[in-house]
Amino acid sequence: MREAMATAEVGDDVYGEDPTVNALEAEVAALFGHEAALFAPTGSMANQIALQLVVPPGDELLCDADAHVVTYEIGAAAAYGGISSRTWPAVGADIDPDVVAGMIRPDGYFAVPTRAIAVEQTHNRGGGGVIPLSTLRELRRVADDAGLAVHCDGARIWHAHVADGVPLAEYGRLFDTLSVCLSKGLGAPVGSLVVGSTEKVARARMIRKRLGGGMRQAGVLAAAGRYALAHHVERLAEDHAKAARLAEAVAPYGVLATVVRTNVVPLDLTKCPLDARALAAAAREEGVLISVLGPRTARLVTHMDVEDAAVDRAATALARILRG
Ligand SMILES: Cc1ncc(COP(=O)(O)O)c(C=O)c1O
Repeated sequence: MREAMATAEVGDDVYGEDPTVNALEAEVAALFGHEAALFAPTGSMANQIALQLVVPPGDELLCDADAHVVTYEIGAAAAYGGISSRTWPAVGADIDPDVVAGMIRPDGYFAVPTRAIAVEQTHNRGGGGVIPLSTLRELRRVADDAGLAVHCDGARIWHAHVADGVPLAEYGRLFDTLSVCLSKGLGAPVGSLVVGSTEKVARARMIRKRLGGGMRQAGVLAAAGRYALAHHVERLAEDHAKAARLAEAVAPYGVLATVVRTNVVPLDLTKCPLDARALAAAAREEGVLISVLGPRTARLVTHMDVEDAAVDRAATALARILRG
């Protein structure tokens, strides 16, 4: 990857003249069966650009209460897009399309009109859960019936593709816009893309520049992304297997929040003598890093830089700590 970055051909991407960025954008658009894609510095920016494409200022986005777009993007949809958000209760990947359908507000002069639905695949706070294809199809139908757009925060859509064997183009067909990330499981240092129609991506380019996300010789970064796509997608199955091993190690202590499907192991410490901070502190002492999500919720993640031996060490250390 470093070699690909060092030898990348570059140009000024603000003028659309970086051949490596252009190649990455064309490649990702084709993967999802869409017309175009736009390289952005981060997943958060890619999401926010996409949301501005599908929800005009003052109008409404529906998503779940744990969605990254309303949890970890520091109010950007409201602050930069003037977007009003309403959420259905957090159920991770387990969405009930009828609940979503019941929340839609029609166009009119007396209520905030709903313009789009956002889903997250896989679901970060939902423990890396995969939304089933049948649910997504049902949501698409709900959106079509009401004339709404559907955005997919696909930061980890590669994991869903590998876990469920759903072709990326099959996912692409269901969404008006997607954001997909190269810098998580795929292991590139930087970068996400907004995927959509030619018209939407042309507008996305303007919004990206407005947000300060127009980069110049970005080909060095796009080269890393192209390398990641070529070499790091199918191997995600190894990370999923490592997460399953960690899940198996902690399961006897009653702390597993859900069934592990991908590379996230969500912990529910409600019945555990240790709270999330105490667990994370004890694990850190043993060289195991854990994300604290809430007072009694935490998250373990596996990725390509966590080798098998490290997974074994982490499993042993966590079992020892949880045993007390
Ligand atoms: C589901 C999801 N979407 C978007 C993002 C944002 O990505 P970034 O950190 O590149 O802004 C993240 C980051 O963790 C995420 O988990």
